[in-house]
Amino acid sequence: MVTIISGTNRPGCSTLKLAQYYQKRLHEKGLNAGLLSLSQLPGNLIESDLYGKRSPEFKPIQDIVTRTEKFLFVIPEYNGSFPGVLKTFIDACDIPGSFYEKKAALTGLSSGKYGNIRGIDHFTGVCHYLHLHVMPLKIHISEINKEFDENYNLFKKDTLKFTDEQMDKFILF
Ligand SMILES: Cc1cc2nc3c(=O)[nH]c(=O)nc-3n(C[C@H](O)[C@H](O)[C@H](O)COP(=O)(O)O)c2cc1C
Repeated sequence: MVTIISGTNRPGCSTLKLAQYYQKRLHEKGLNAGLLSLSQLPGNLIESDLYGKRSPEFKPIQDIVTRTEKFLFVIPEYNGSFPGVLKTFIDACDIPGSFYEKKAALTGLSSGKYGNIRGIDHFTGVCHYLHLHVMPLKIHISEINKEFDENYNLFKKDTLKFTDEQMDKFILF
């Protein structure tokens, strides 16, 4: 099973739009991937699902994570790194069963110039700790507000080239 993780719970976020684009484009390429948005997390996650607790709301999310062999994380830049809610999500998941010896591809995005280069590096460190194998080709999309057409598809030649290459490699990964 393959799951795209939209790495923030911010309402109206570009991350979910980009994750939905990836899901659509992967489907066109013959890979059916599920989509898990961190907006689906229980609102009181920090009380309900950390440090050994497990709520009925998180259980179906944990089941998706457990059944997933390959993840594609779409991760926005928040204050020079990846969002805290993404780390809280990782901390809430069962360890080691959720990520150990599985595979992941990473895409960063930002409204600024750097496309979350640093946050993707930080998250790569977390993945390595978890023994979650990261695909070497990582994508960084800067100035995300200039990247979508009116249907929230990517359209710029370079962005299409690199995201398509990443998806083709991800399918084979
Ligand atoms: C809490 C927070 C911190 C942010 N910090 C940065 C930042 O350090 N650098 C940057 O380029 N954009 C930053 N942004 C803007 C996001 O990159 C921008 O909102 C972009 O659309 C991706 O995030 P989104 O999926 O929430 O829309 C920040 C946004 C939020 C909500």
